[in-house]
This record gives sequence, C-alpha cells and structure tokens, in this order.
Amino acid sequence: MGERVLRLERLRIEGSRKLYGELTVHGAKNSTLPILAASLLCKSEAVLHNCPALSDVDTAVRILRTLGCRVRRERDVLAIDSSQLCDDEIPENLMREMRSSIVFLGAVVSRLGKARLSFPGGCELGPRPIDLHLTALRKMGLSIREDHGCLECTVPGRLKGCPISLSFPSVGATENVMLAAACAEGTTVLSNAAREPEICDLADFLNACGARISGAGGSVIVIEGVESLGGCEHWVIPDRIVAATYLAAAAITGGELLLQHLDCSHLPLVLPAFEESGCLLKSEGDQLWVKAPERLRPVKSVRTMPYPGFPTDAQAPVMAVTSLADGTSVFVENIFESRYKHVGELLRLGANIKVEGRVAVVEGVPGLSGAPVMAPDLRGGAALLLAGLAAEGTTLLTGVHHLDRGYEAIEERLSSVGAVIHREFLPDSAE
Ligand code: EPZ
Repeated sequence: MGERVLRLERLRIEGSRKLYGELTVHGAKNSTLPILAASLLCKSEAVLHNCPALSDVDTAVRILRTLGCRVRRERDVLAIDSSQLCDDEIPENLMREMRSSIVFLGAVVSRLGKARLSFPGGCELGPRPIDLHLTALRKMGLSIREDHGCLECTVPGRLKGCPISLSFPSVGATENVMLAAACAEGTTVLSNAAREPEICDLADFLNACGARISGAGGSVIVIEGVESLGGCEHWVIPDRIVAATYLAAAAITGGELLLQHLDCSHLPLVLPAFEESGCLLKSEGDQLWVKAPERLRPVKSVRTMPYPGFPTDAQAPVMAVTSLADGTSVFVENIFESRYKHVGELLRLGANIKVEGRVAVVEGVPGLSGAPVMAPDLRGGAALLLAGLAAEGTTLLTGVHHLDRGYEAIEERLSSVGAVIHREFLPDSAE
C-alpha cells in the first residue's frame, strides 16, 4: 500500500456507548505468519483454515507469490503450493512493510540453500535487531554477508542440526530456528526457546507435514531433521491479543460481551488482570463471558514478560482500561525498548500517565474526552480506539493502517456490539 493511501483514512468514534453482544475472535496473526513461512518447506499443498484477513497476512502472501508459490484464498482458507518455489529474494519493500518477514529466512535457505533479503530495520517499537536469528542460523552453517543493508545468505549443502541456546527467548528467532532445523541434517536442540502458543501452533503444523519436533511450549525444543516435508490441513489458533482487546473494549465501556472461538488457556496472566480491574469473567469451552464493573479498579502491577508472562502486545490495550480506574496502575515494559508511544496520545484524551524509562504510572481519571489522535503502532492504535469508545464526544483516530495489520474489520466488529465507529477518508485540508 503506497505511503499516500496510508494517510487518507481515519476512524470517527462517537464515545460513551456501552458494548453489548457477541464477538468471534479471529485466527492469530502471529501464528498465521510463521506458518505461511513454514509452507515454503512443503513439497505438496498446505491448506490453512481460520486465517485472518489482515494486511500483514496479505504481505506474507505477496512474499510467497514473489518467491514463486501459488496461493489461493477462499474466505478464511489459504491454500499454498510451494512446489514451484524458485526465487530466493524477498524484495526490500515487503521486508520494510513487515519486520517479521525475517522469519522467512530459515525456510528459504532450507529449501533453496540461499536467500537475499534486506535488513528489517527499526520500527515503531524501537530497533528490531535480528542478531539472535543470525547467530543461530550461522551456527547451523549458514554464511551471511551483510552488504549495504542487504543480507546475502548461502549454505553449501544442507543446514546442520546442532545445539543452540538463545540469550533471550525471542519468538521470531525460535521460529526461524524451527524452520531452518526441520529439514536440516541431524538434530537441533534449541534451549531458552520462546514458549508462546504460536510456537506450539507452528510445531503442530510442521509435525502434521512430517517434521519431528518435540518440546514446543517448553524452553527446550528438539527438532530432528527430516529429508523433506509434505503438505497438511491445519486450523490456526485463535488470536489471544485480539481476545484481550475485545475484553478491554467491554471493560472500558462498562459493557458486557460474550467472546467466541478463543482459548482461555492462552491468556494466563491477562484474565486475572481483567478480574483485578473488577470485570466478571466466566469461561465455558471456547467461549468467555465478560461483564464490566460500574467503576473500574486499578491493576496494581503489569510487568510484560515472555510467555507465559503478561504479553507485551496486551500492554497498551490494558493501559487504556486502567486510565479510567479509580486508582493507580503501574506498568513495566520489559520486552520492547519503546512501546509507550500511545501514552502521549492517551494524554490528549485526558488520561493521566507518567513514563520513566520502562515504567509507566497510570493515575485513573473519572472520564476521558474525545480528541483527534494518531495511532503510533498496531497495539498503541488499539489502545486509542478503546479509549475513544469510552471518551465523551468524538475521537478522530488516524493511522488506521496500523490497526488493519492486526485487527480484522475492527470497526465492523465493534459496531456490531453497539460502538459507533465510521471509517472515513481524511478531508484534503487535513493532509
Ligand atoms: C513477536 O515479535 C510478535 N510478532 C510481536 O507481536 C510480539 O510483541 C513479540 O513476538 C513478543 O511477544 C510476530 O509474531 C509476528 P521477539 P518478534 O523476537 O519475534 C529483541 C504484534 O503486535 N530481539 O520475541 O520480533 C527484540 O528487539 C507484534 O503483533 C533481539 O534483541 O519478538 C525485542 O526487544 C509486535 N534480537 C525482544 O527481543 C533478536 O534477534 C522480543 O523480540 C530478536 C529479538
């Protein structure tokens, strides 16, 4: 999507409406993306169900097609045929559009023995280093030349399985190693691996295609390399961050929602935070009922940590909720360097938040008032949308393209439970 188009949309949110009704949680973006990269390893067709309609997923599909894969989409089903995979270069514009494209590296070099891609560069959350990815892949025999912002990667013969220990349980680095090791020669033992549910979903997909991966979900994952992978049919897990965002929408508006198609076991520290804020929760199977209190209570301490700790992606949406609590909530962002860019915009809506380095102190206020605000990134944008739902008056939220990366049809979904939100084009003067 060109830069010019990105500037042209905003959401007009009429606040102070309680949300009531049912919302279905769509498939997980952060599971769909690595699984699409994994489909490069499949010698026969992979069929993915419950794929969300998101711009990041569109970008990943464009990368697959650029590399020579055939991809068909019918509603939430993506069918990928990588048998004609031929190109080893991921174009810079696609790398820049989605930092997490680095996760394609392991699969491309495993399949073709070489890859060319540009450095993903920084983004709204601060620098996005890939040192853990590159160190691990070099250990497996990949030679990587960094030249003018481009990575020229080659491996003579096959990648070699080996013991690898991550200095940080990086989600992307864990995924890259799994993809590089699935068809490597020998066994890879990955220590200090990320334990997110999306890692388990990736392992389930790969094993369904014939891989031999054990231990996913724990800190040590063992990948026994196999000759090649076939295809499979796979259902992507629900998006736990979208679920957290919908919970926050009920909480911040004082409403009551029934969420469907989610997995509550993927929200170990998030559900207690909503209960601490005074929400009533009741789960049954893949449904979760939430009812907000008359007045929200603060969430004393939210420390983001690798899974199963509190997810960094839920920090901004939960911060929006605490901005209306009758007390003080303290956030510590331990995962990303600068993931408080939404604070400045929340202040414009009347929130009272102070940031000192990794710590944000939120003094709840009785009410917020609508104003023009700008989404700084995906989850920060969600926080501003949530605050606009509760604010008195109209909130104009620009930077909608950030939201479209991770939330499917967000304005339609929330409007279906009582929100008043309209997507509109910016008038020329506002450009
Ligand atoms: C994944 O990003 C998610 N993205 C992020 O979700 C999520 O916030 C993050 O994991 C943490 O849970 C996808 O899955 C597509 P990391 P990723 O590697 O893999 C540092 C969203 O909103 N690091 O676990 O990039 C890094 O800078 C997105 O959906 C290195 O230093 O996260 C960060 O501080 C945002 N060197 C920390 O580790 C490396 O080589 C966690 O990064 C890699 C990472």
